[in-house]
Amino acid sequence: MKKDLISINDLSAKEIEGIFDLASKIKKNKSAYANKLKGKSVALIFQKPSNRTRVSFEVGVWQLGGNCIYLGPGEINLGVRETVEDVAKTLSRYLDAIVARTFKHSDVLDLAKYSKIPVINGLSDLSHPCQGLADLFTIKEKLGKLKGIKLAYIGDGNNVCHSLMYGCAKLGVDLKVATPKDYEPNKKVVRESGFSLKNISNNPNEAVESADVIYTDVWASMGEESEAEERRRIFKDFQINGKLVSKARKNYLFMHCLPAHRGEEVSSDVMDSKNSIVFDQAENRLHVQKAILLFLLA
Ligand code: CP
Ligand code: NVA
Repeated sequence: MKKDLISINDLSAKEIEGIFDLASKIKKNKSAYANKLKGKSVALIFQKPSNRTRVSFEVGVWQLGGNCIYLGPGEINLGVRETVEDVAKTLSRYLDAIVARTFKHSDVLDLAKYSKIPVINGLSDLSHPCQGLADLFTIKEKLGKLKGIKLAYIGDGNNVCHSLMYGCAKLGVDLKVATPKDYEPNKKVVRESGFSLKNISNNPNEAVESADVIYTDVWASMGEESEAEERRRIFKDFQINGKLVSKARKNYLFMHCLPAHRGEEVSSDVMDSKNSIVFDQAENRLHVQKAILLFLLA
């Protein structure tokens, strides 16, 4: 049976720990894994722009000895030029895995359903599992553990927030989510992840209190550009700035999946502070995704 990675919820805590152990080994000794995907081809079907996900997957596949094909918006034209089902069945005859970045989450699910090869969710409107896994790996690397760590996610209850919710619930991270009213996380994700409703509020000050890690993401995600101005107004009290972080632990870590909009969800002084680990976090996308590929393909 082929395995997919559509949501962190697809993985057990033990499988996640296994991916993290492998990612650490790969990070320490890149050359030992140089032939692991020899002769294998992976395609990236991306309906949205990307810096980190595209580059880290392309470089990662190449470092593992495989071949990567980027299929940007307008090339496959998923669901328009032909059905998602026909795309999945065709590509299964050529490739060994697909990484998909879509608008509709159902498109990733359909690709997985009709493919004979592993499908990895490279971000959909509902979730961003590769991001969530790399984030938790980074926290573990920096703080030495995950259980009991206090993580505050401040901002939009979006795809990145959802993946953190699944991952934190599985690994015992004490996650608090603070969003403006009506921008709370998806109810199905709350139910499915077993995330406690008492850890979701509309109060950023309360959420960051004695936090070890503060995390934020853009206020308007890809596809929501027309709401950006309205959201800037609604989210203004949710900016991560000097005043808000003063309530966290002194040595708190600042995280952001990037791209960041400085002066919106985060002030430049926090983004550039010694507490900020955003580029270590971005680097770990590479190591963790290489481990994910080997976990699914080996
Ligand atoms: N964090 C992240 O997924 O970045 P990109 O959108 O640049 O891939
Ligand atoms: N929530 C953001 C994440 C970007 C990596 C978006 O979907 O645009």
